[in-house]
Amino acid sequence: MTGLRHFLALGDAGGDAIAAMIGDALDRKAARSGQPRGRADEDAPLAGHVLGMIFEKSSTRTRVSFDIAMRQLGGSALILDSGTSQLGRGESIADTARVLSRMVDAIMIRTDDHAKLEELAHHASVPVINGLTDLSHPCQIVADLVTLIERGKALPGLEIAWLGDGNNVLHSLIEAAGLMKFNLRIATPAGFEPDKGFIDRARAAGAGVTLTRDAGEAATGADVLVTDTWISMGQEHAEAKLAAMQPYQVDAALMARAKPDALFLHCLPAHVGEEVSAEVFEGPQSVVFDEAENRIHAQKAILRWCFRQI
Ligand code: CP
Ligand code: NVA
Repeated sequence: MTGLRHFLALGDAGGDAIAAMIGDALDRKAARSGQPRGRADEDAPLAGHVLGMIFEKSSTRTRVSFDIAMRQLGGSALILDSGTSQLGRGESIADTARVLSRMVDAIMIRTDDHAKLEELAHHASVPVINGLTDLSHPCQIVADLVTLIERGKALPGLEIAWLGDGNNVLHSLIEAAGLMKFNLRIATPAGFEPDKGFIDRARAAGAGVTLTRDAGEAATGADVLVTDTWISMGQEHAEAKLAAMQPYQVDAALMARAKPDALFLHCLPAHVGEEVSAEVFEGPQSVVFDEAENRIHAQKAILRWCFRQI
């Protein structure tokens, strides 16, 4: 159905809308500071609205932040997981989309194959939000950008280094580089590079995106270091991959090569001692728990965008 605002990728919103979402997230966060987390914002802009959340993979932050986001916007959320819904017993995505569209006001889905998300959106007559697929994780990156702005980093020209696996979170970060005009230095082992299409599109949009095998080279002079788990949900626990990733651990020596005021980001859950050392994870440059909290404020802005309030 046309005219709906789905949020399947950052590009569905575009750079101007993402900038507006970041501003909205920070304004609303400040306005409700100190209040109980479940209390609705004064204007309750999504009063009476219900978000249906489909989880075909595990989640802590995404499920809690969307639920709390809906409460703060004056609405509510409910969860369908694959183990206890008919989707898990083989009901089609198309029928699930059409049924949920008669019952809720928006749908968020976390799934494996990105094509399932697209199919859901194709058959839905309410906005659909990508809560992570094997391809991308756009909601996470809105929260990351909120966190960087909150910490005083201006996005245009910012030098962000990604260390480790070329995964779904990185794909959305690359997309954001093109939209928000920051530069990305990506260090991965051979065979674990991100999808070339994301890189080509970000470069065409004017972002500097470099690929290297050398973690030190990527980190040198960077404003932000980012990493993620070496084994994503649904991937085999592979010793060979873990071995290849070892040189990309974000440790104190790597952090020291970045700018003195550089920040460390990680979407969580973290595997401390693998992709990041305990010293960096717990250290003063790590803003990972602000980043997690900002998932709430980012989701609120994404939801408001879907409902044309931004
Ligand atoms: N970062 C993130 O999406 O966390 P969850 O898997 O806990 O939702
Ligand atoms: N790359 C990770 C992100 C988890 C939020 C995964 O897909 O498991």
